[in-house]
Amino acid sequence: MENNYLVDQLLAARPEQKVQLLFDYLTKHGDENYEEDVTQMQHGLQAAYLAREAGQDAPYVTAALFHDIGHILADDPDERNNPTLKDDNHEDIAATFFKDIFPDEVIEPIRLHVAAKRYLCTVNKEYYEGLSEPSQKSFHLQGGPMSVEELASFEANPFHKEAVQLRIWDDTAKDVKAEVPNLETYRKLVLESLLLL
Ligand SMILES: [Fe+2]
Repeated sequence: MENNYLVDQLLAARPEQKVQLLFDYLTKHGDENYEEDVTQMQHGLQAAYLAREAGQDAPYVTAALFHDIGHILADDPDERNNPTLKDDNHEDIAATFFKDIFPDEVIEPIRLHVAAKRYLCTVNKEYYEGLSEPSQKSFHLQGGPMSVEELASFEANPFHKEAVQLRIWDDTAKDVKAEVPNLETYRKLVLESLLLL
């Protein structure tokens, strides 16, 4: 399988090569796969841009850039055309994929970015109402509102605030008209994040 092969390649590669492998993967698949009206590549680049503009450290910008790579890995990326049939667990797929490649500062916000949507929907009704329609639909597939126990367990995660922040950028990074810096812009930041491990 391509994914397993890629993981083996990544684990064996030097840091600079890891960045190249990840960029190649995103470039190869980013335009084939769509989330809502923007491509995966546009979505990741917009999220990373928002994180960088907010002055975030390298790992959180990196998390924003790659937060939806699980949709590509799961080969189930199109939330618009296939929004309600099943949940692809793309956040867990990405977290597993990045294990031993990135530090927790990158992995945990990605792993929690779907839970963060459930969290925000639970504590803030206006947030739910402001979501795009596919995102509202997938919210119910992803478990719907959190229980009191789930809220407490989410808030106990040391990266829950970063996950909520990532979620907000995620929701904003769907502008079909936005023009943002290209993937190359993030080479140094991604390398820096890899070296934190
Ligand atoms: Fe996303």
